[in-house]
Amino acid sequence: MLKGKKIILGVTGGIAAYKSAMLTRLLIKQGAEVKVIMTEDAKAFVTPLTLATLSKHPIHSAMVANEQTGEWSNHVELGLWADLLLIAPATANTLAKMAHGLCDNLLLATYLSARCKTYIAPAMDLDMFAHTATQNNLEKLRQYGNIVLPVEDGELASGLSGKGRMLEPEAILDFLIQHTTATQKLKGKRVLVTAGPTYESIDPVRFIGNHSSGKMGFAIAETFARHGAKVTLISGPTDLQLQHENISRINVTSAEEMYDKTIKLFSKTDIAVMSAAVADYTPEKVSITKIKKSGNELHLKLLKTKDILAELGRIKNKKQILIGFALETDHELENARKKLKAKNLDFIVLNSLKTAGAGFSHDTNKVTIIHKNGSVQEFKLKSKSEVANDIVNQIIELVHA
Ligand code: CTP
Repeated sequence: MLKGKKIILGVTGGIAAYKSAMLTRLLIKQGAEVKVIMTEDAKAFVTPLTLATLSKHPIHSAMVANEQTGEWSNHVELGLWADLLLIAPATANTLAKMAHGLCDNLLLATYLSARCKTYIAPAMDLDMFAHTATQNNLEKLRQYGNIVLPVEDGELASGLSGKGRMLEPEAILDFLIQHTTATQKLKGKRVLVTAGPTYESIDPVRFIGNHSSGKMGFAIAETFARHGAKVTLISGPTDLQLQHENISRINVTSAEEMYDKTIKLFSKTDIAVMSAAVADYTPEKVSITKIKKSGNELHLKLLKTKDILAELGRIKNKKQILIGFALETDHELENARKKLKAKNLDFIVLNSLKTAGAGFSHDTNKVTIIHKNGSVQEFKLKSKSEVANDIVNQIIELVHA
């Protein structure tokens, strides 16, 4: 899907620059035409010869290409040539310069002159990434209309572990494919998505929650938006961030809050996808002061929360499309079918917990979709954005049926 796309890959000076060789290869394999711009510092991490060979073009680096002849690198031409500018890795320094319009190298000059979308894959140590200055710069860059790719949480070159690793080349490729395949197939449709966990307060400092990361719901919201829908995402606590301007986000904490917000918006909704991991039970009483440690046992009385999906199924009209999720550990298909029927859904997405790499917190998922007409479609283990694509494609078919 990147076939024929003209891509400028900007490589800056961070250890993740070594991955730009693989990234270039993957882009070329997809049929994209790639021109690479390297900053001076990037050359300490990966050689220009490597990237020139893989991209099949000489790399661009200095503003003045040849001092003897006065030949200069035409950043305006480069910027206008590109369908897409990808900066991977983007160091904290480059991000800061981009956020403030600095222009002291060829990559920054090209960024400022390019008219195409810019995708930024940050890469740095965890404290640099978490620093308010970096976060503010990233926010600014998003506001300017750039797409900031997520970072990975894991081992860093410093030996520390945390958030700041550049996405793996395969994940960057996947992200680009998802983001550049926009259609208008859901233009005018109003979509409601719930995502993430809910937190049920026990006292001012404690809650009952679950391990849902929200990644699946966020990926679904992004996919809907790329197909032209107007999306409202009602999200439980998560530090995920949205990219698409067609999504408005409502943050909630508890199941009760999620219920209220969802029910309120449902009458103005064409398609609702409930992917949140809503708590089924909540403490009967929330202590207003911190519960002190006392006896050997502490008994909490929990009350059932309202089932948002079941209520939407009850009140929905014939035109509204309603999709739910099921997470089962045994009798998977049988239980999912029961939920599909009981909650009056158009289809249900069954998450398999049995497959390694699927489910909560992972970037991948394996699902089976069961339609109300009885048809069952089993999908392979895929990235969550690809799973989101599969789900939204099924909905597009229902909309246009
Ligand atoms: N759901 C909801 N509101 C709740 C509980 C669940 O909207 N209070 C939705 C979830 O978003 C999901 C679906 O219901 O789309 C299935 O949730 P799940 O927890 O698997 O099923 P339950 O119906 O809660 O049943 P059980 O926990 O017994 O499997």
